[in-house]
Amino acid sequence: MVPLKRRKVANSGSLNAGTHNSAATQPTKFPQVVLFLLERKMGASRRAFLSQLGRRKGFQVEELFSENVTHVICESNTAQEARMWLEAQGAGQAGRHLLDVSWYTESMRDGHPVEILDRHKLQEFAVNDSEVTPFSVPSYACQRRSTLKNHNAVLTDSLSLLAENAELSDEDGRGVAFRRAAAVLKALPSAVTKMSQLKGLPCLGEHSLRVIKDILENGASSEVESTKESERFKALKVLTGIFGVGSKTADRWIREGIHNLQQLRDSGQTLNRAQQAGLEHYDDIKQPVSLAEAEAIRGIVGRAVASVSPEAQIVLTGGFRRGKLTGHDVDFLITHPEEGSEVGLMPKLVSWLESQGLLLYQKTTRNSYLEGSEGPGRPPSNIDRFERCLSIFKLSAGQTGRGVQSEETAASPSAAERRWRAVRVDLVVSPISQFAFALLGWTGSKLFERELRRWAGHEKGMSLSSHALYDNKQGRYIRASSEEEIFAHLGLEFIPPTERNA
Ligand code: UTP
Ligand code: MN
Repeated sequence: MVPLKRRKVANSGSLNAGTHNSAATQPTKFPQVVLFLLERKMGASRRAFLSQLGRRKGFQVEELFSENVTHVICESNTAQEARMWLEAQGAGQAGRHLLDVSWYTESMRDGHPVEILDRHKLQEFAVNDSEVTPFSVPSYACQRRSTLKNHNAVLTDSLSLLAENAELSDEDGRGVAFRRAAAVLKALPSAVTKMSQLKGLPCLGEHSLRVIKDILENGASSEVESTKESERFKALKVLTGIFGVGSKTADRWIREGIHNLQQLRDSGQTLNRAQQAGLEHYDDIKQPVSLAEAEAIRGIVGRAVASVSPEAQIVLTGGFRRGKLTGHDVDFLITHPEEGSEVGLMPKLVSWLESQGLLLYQKTTRNSYLEGSEGPGRPPSNIDRFERCLSIFKLSAGQTGRGVQSEETAASPSAAERRWRAVRVDLVVSPISQFAFALLGWTGSKLFERELRRWAGHEKGMSLSSHALYDNKQGRYIRASSEEEIFAHLGLEFIPPTERNA
């Protein structure tokens, strides 16, 4: 036991405070902020970890309490408890902030002392945990309204990165689990600050909760940081960033020692036509497509469609229909008001575009959907069978109005000199009878679509695809001519495209 007198002079808050030097390991960046972490309820090891983290970030974190301390950081203590502790040290609260550890971790995350908000101040009295109203969110993403506004971007970016890593490693189950967890956090009306707020939320598995806890408590997740830095993840990202290269091919190349584009070029690997085009236009394709560019391409494809089939209609789908301002590609759905008149449209459209020199690459797959054989026996697969053209467009500077020198492409001088850029474009043709399903299926987001199909199967005994809705119990197809009708058949409230950003 340390004699009481000594404890009054200098005390770390533990009974066996060591004689650590209070000098910061780094020159302090914020001389007016002198921090002290109260060990009570925080525990010695967490206190030591958080103190070190603070010092590394240039904060002055005192090992021993002194009159100089300006901010006392507590975990699970009330203001009353903190003041009693201060009094026991022979000090008062005067001029000192008594703050919750959330202020500290947020400051660590931002790299500077953040503004002290009400929620950072210690509560006067203990709040019963059950009084903290937890968030409430329905289980399926298709029951929720997910706008582009996200109050939990730090958490969702981390979970999305782990999802991406799982998907690139062919661990789809794990990938979906992380995507669902991220989508739940995206749907929350404000930022999560405490683990207790997550009580009762759906889709948050043990692994996701561990990642969230790490970030809330320490400002970062070690798993996310190490994944980001891993050579394998970096190589998978670069290689699958090549149009035409999937995770299996990338994995094989990595096992053969190919980690980047130069190594791929030098390796003499045989590339298919898509991959050759992908490698050639790599820099352009990895640049996000702007809304202005998407609209310019809409104009071009619109004119092309009008000249080969005047009655045909074209809709911009994918992320841009959900209100996104950038995308990795541009997706279009084309139909004809008269069933059957869409047949033969795609080849004519592609020929027109090619004759104008607008396509750097294209590959068309024919429609292989046959309702009869897809229905009762086999539920419609989530891979659709529409006539589809995967292409790389040559978009000229003049065609975007603003030129190709959007913020992103200005970084690539070669594109600026060329006065054109390559853009990934997907064209899909649907018969009018399937148009509503195709529109719903191609608007996304991917998770929203997946959740719609899961809802249909698990809750309604139906099979939904981009072609049709099939009622398994009644053994019949359910027709619909609008997205609203499909939601109604599924017993769901209609969610407009801009609220499908799950
Ligand atoms: P995208 O991959 O283009 O996603 O697919 P996105 O939401 O537009 O994202 P960015 O902005 O380009 O990055 C668009 C929709 O098309 C469906 C997907 O499910 C998604 O909802 N899709 C895509 C298919 O149905 N089949 C496919 O083969 C590809
Ligand atoms: Mn898209």
